[in-house]
Parts: sequence; structure tokens; C-alpha cells
Amino acid sequence: MKPEVTGEKYNRIAEWWRQQHEASGYGVEQLRRAVTWVTNRKRALDVGCGSSGRFINELQEHGFQVDGIDISEEMIRHARELHPESEFAVADISQWKTETEYDLVCAWDSTFHLPLDLHEAALKNMCNALAPGGVVMFTCGGSHEPSKISGTFQGEDFEYSTLGIPEYFRLLHQFGCVVRHVEFDQGPTEPHVYMIAQRTE
Ligand SMILES: C[S@@+](CC[C@H](N)C(=O)[O-])C[C@H]1O[C@@H](n2cnc3c(N)ncnc32)[C@H](O)[C@@H]1O
Repeated sequence: MKPEVTGEKYNRIAEWWRQQHEASGYGVEQLRRAVTWVTNRKRALDVGCGSSGRFINELQEHGFQVDGIDISEEMIRHARELHPESEFAVADISQWKTETEYDLVCAWDSTFHLPLDLHEAALKNMCNALAPGGVVMFTCGGSHEPSKISGTFQGEDFEYSTLGIPEYFRLLHQFGCVVRHVEFDQGPTEPHVYMIAQRTE
């Protein structure tokens, strides 16, 4: 599914997402773990930030100035309402380029919607946006081979895909990052993984 189509689906559930997730702690412990690797806590980017502003709240508490991008205009409209002090863009992470250097880039449950052929570009853009020593944290499907699935959520059909853990490791190395943490954070029966890596160059 093209990212723009995914964005249209999230447009339709952006308000619901905001109400459901504004106070949600889902992924926050994992975000805090990523923050522990960051020595220079100046600027962070939330990729696929959604409408609830919850990761932005957490990162601001750690002293970051936080920017957000999302492919859904409605998600960004809500995020702007909650965080007028932040800079936002409606953009697909696989196409997005920036001159800004970030000390932390997080993509919680967003890049897993990309079609298989766009994951590499998205990961490259996130790694390229890191300052030296900067940290990237993202979630992905925990298979060992590339795979894709689809599912219905809030009445919308969504697609998900993953390159598989070995390929993310290879790409992170290629893009100048070392892996710091990998975890099946929902246990052995749910193939949901989050990865933390750090730019070394
Ligand atoms: C499951 S929601 C997660 C929202 C937020 N990260 C959270 O945890 O509350 C997925 C978000 O990723 C965004 N997204 C999906 N594909 C994207 C892409 N290619 N580039 C940027 N954002 C994307 C969606 O619009 C949606 O807001």
C-alpha cells in the first residue's frame, strides 16, 4: 500500500487516535531506554508522530526540542494543536530529507506500514538525519526474512511489512550505526520488535 493511501486511512481515525492515545504509556518505556543512550539531548524527531503528542510530551520532559512528521494531514493537524511550539511536516519518511541534525529519531509503529521496497530509503533518511552519536529507535516485525501482512483496525484495512531483523542490522551498519538494543517487547508469541541504534560516524 502506498504511504499516501495509509495516510488517508489515518486521516479518518486521527481524532479517535488522539482521544485513545493522549494518556497512553504504550512504547514510552522503550522510548526512555533509547533516551538513555543520548548524551546530547537537544533536538529530536518523531516519525509518524500521530495525533496524540504523547512521545513529544515525553521527549520534552527530557529536554529535547521536538519536531514531528507524519504522512497523515489530520494527524499533523491535531499534533500541531497540542504542540504549537513544535515544527511539523506532512511527509512520507521514505521520501523526506532534512538539513537538520537530530540527537534522537524515533519511529514507533509507523515505518512498519511501508511497502517492502521503501524500508531501506526510510531507514537511510532516519540515519542520515542523526547527529554524530545520535540515536534512532524504531519498531519492526520480528521475522528473519522479509514478510508482509494485512489487518483491519478501527474499520480500516492496513498493510504492514518488515525486512526482517538480519536485514535491518545490515542496513544500520551500512548507514553508519551500531545496534544498541533489540527486544521482542510483546513476548515470544508477538513478532513485535523495537531496535535502538546509534550513529558512530
Ligand atoms: C500506528 S500510528 C502510531 C502513531 C504514533 N507513533 C503513536 O505511537 O502514537 C502510525 C502513524 O504512522 C504514520 N505513518 C504511516 N506511514 C508513514 C510514512 N511513510 N511516513 C510518515 N508517517 C507515516 C501514520 O499516518 C500514523 O500517524
